[in-house]
Amino acid sequence: MSLIRDLLKESGYSEKATEYYLNRVSVGEIRDPDAHAIYTGPCGDTMEFFLKVEDGVIKDATFQAIGCAGAFSSGSALCNMIRGKTLEEAEKIEEEEIIEYLDGIPLQKVHCACLAKRTLRKTIKDYRKPQ
Ligand code: FES
Repeated sequence: MSLIRDLLKESGYSEKATEYYLNRVSVGEIRDPDAHAIYTGPCGDTMEFFLKVEDGVIKDATFQAIGCAGAFSSGSALCNMIRGKTLEEAEKIEEEEIIEYLDGIPLQKVHCACLAKRTLRKTIKDYRKPQ
């Protein structure tokens, strides 16, 4: 058991959120994405989402971030949640659902789930803009 793992659990990260963060689930870039956008939250942390979209359905999703464990675990969760969903379904996901999917992150980290949500919404919005 690593000290970081212990610390994350003591801080209120669930087993799932801890694993996602430590294993960097869905972190990375998609080459030649159909959509990608970057967003910086009020805390100063930044996230970038990459999507592959076919007929309005998200086929793949990954992200990169400069941020905390809350941002990384939320980004991982959101990527898992949106694969196979339509853009309309994906953009309706709220931070509470991300946190529920993760089985919990510290209360003071709710805004980190919000960063993931807002980055995804910006990515979808940009995708819809006429090129
Ligand atoms: Fe900025 Fe977590 S503290 S996203």
